[in-house]
Amino acid sequence: MTAKTSHRTWAEPYKIKMVELLHMTTRVEREKAIRDAGYNTFLLRSRDVYIDLLTDSGTSAMSDRQWAGLMRGDEAYAGSESFYRLEEVVRQYYGYRHLLPTHQGRGAEHIMSQLLIKPGDFIPGNMYFTTTRLHQELAGGKFVDVIIDEAHDTQSSHPFKGNVDLAKLDELVQEVGADCVPYISLEGNVNMAGGQPFSMENLKALHSYCREKGILIMLDATRTIENAFFIREREAAYAGKSVKSILREICDLTDGCTMSAKKDALTNIGGFFCCNDDELFQRAKNLAVIYEGLHTYGGLAGRDMEAMAQGLHEAVMEEHQAARIGQVRYLGNKLADAGIPIGLPIGSHAVFIDAKRFLPHVEQDSYPAQALAAEFYVESGVRAMERGNVSAGRDPETGNNRRPALELVRLTLPRRVYTQAHMDVVAECVVNVFQRRKQIQGLKMTFEPEYLRFFQARFEPLAKNN
Ligand code: F0G
Repeated sequence: MTAKTSHRTWAEPYKIKMVELLHMTTRVEREKAIRDAGYNTFLLRSRDVYIDLLTDSGTSAMSDRQWAGLMRGDEAYAGSESFYRLEEVVRQYYGYRHLLPTHQGRGAEHIMSQLLIKPGDFIPGNMYFTTTRLHQELAGGKFVDVIIDEAHDTQSSHPFKGNVDLAKLDELVQEVGADCVPYISLEGNVNMAGGQPFSMENLKALHSYCREKGILIMLDATRTIENAFFIREREAAYAGKSVKSILREICDLTDGCTMSAKKDALTNIGGFFCCNDDELFQRAKNLAVIYEGLHTYGGLAGRDMEAMAQGLHEAVMEEHQAARIGQVRYLGNKLADAGIPIGLPIGSHAVFIDAKRFLPHVEQDSYPAQALAAEFYVESGVRAMERGNVSAGRDPETGNNRRPALELVRLTLPRRVYTQAHMDVVAECVVNVFQRRKQIQGLKMTFEPEYLRFFQARFEPLAKNN
């Protein structure tokens, strides 16, 4: 692709029209804030945070056109014009026949899991996502990880660590029978693997396999536009194609999707479920009225659907993706150059720090990634998120911590929000903490909620020399 102008490769294709003032804190204030939050960055108040890299979910800056769209929102309970505009845009870019808006991604996951999974089923997937797996389990299914082995190794530079291992998938299907595998859960730019893409070649092979066995492919489309960008960059056959056309080709090889529009689609709230099958859609619409709202708003205001429709037009723009992914790489390369152990290749939505290698002296059941995220906050007011033993939760059969191979701290970049100077502050913060890493102790969990414990669990520092 040739750049349209001669400016630096990833410079932003927008300028700032409005700013939001940040609150600065002292180290003493931050030490108190993290103690009060039980050493869980989810429990901090945002006013105590300087640079918020907790998540890229619902944290994007909307454009002037999206804000204008809010005024255009049709707040009719039924048959909102905003729904029909969104439907047209989703059909254009994703290509599925049917669209059901939901309040956010997990609303779509709930509906899809209830519709497709029967108790005793197995759902293979290219690594778990927290809410996705929980909805599969609540519907009576069991998630089985069939991602390639390289995905569990932060140092492997495989260009498509999100690929499905077809041998692992076939082993499962042989063992339990295709009748007990309603669909494969395929995620674009696999979040828990570090924002790593699957390749089109892998998807095509998966498609042939699943057609032969009668297994559906349901896409988690949350960050699939970013996945399309990586396919263009890394797969020779796609070098000259547009992100738009690659996205469409991905969707055409799948049977439906769930979407958290709070990521790729540049909105602060929203999601959707899509499928091609008429009968499945009828049933989905019927469940929606119980759990979300009428099928033409699904838990969203008309204005949210307007913002999403416009956000999708902007999200598929080449220069948007170049700036988005360019900024993540800028931060990642700065950290890698400073000798910080990060997950490679650098993904699309975040830089992942390998807490096992950063804090080798902290045992995994003392939650090194949780402890490290708390340290980053105390150091500079930078808020990150644990993606390791706390997020993985307990095995429902044994009750033990799952102790995943990946014990990561995620520095997640909201889209269009922070500047290059902010990225420099983040890098300095991480390097400062790295220099005093030997003094950092692990944590013990003092409160553990039943579901998705990482959101609300509380911790205390382990006593020194414990
Ligand atoms: N799927 C993926 C891949 C996600 O990353 C998320 C959310 C969801 C589904 C659920 O969507 O939040 O709209 O209900 N990820 C956020 C994160 C929370 O920070 O990674 P939701």
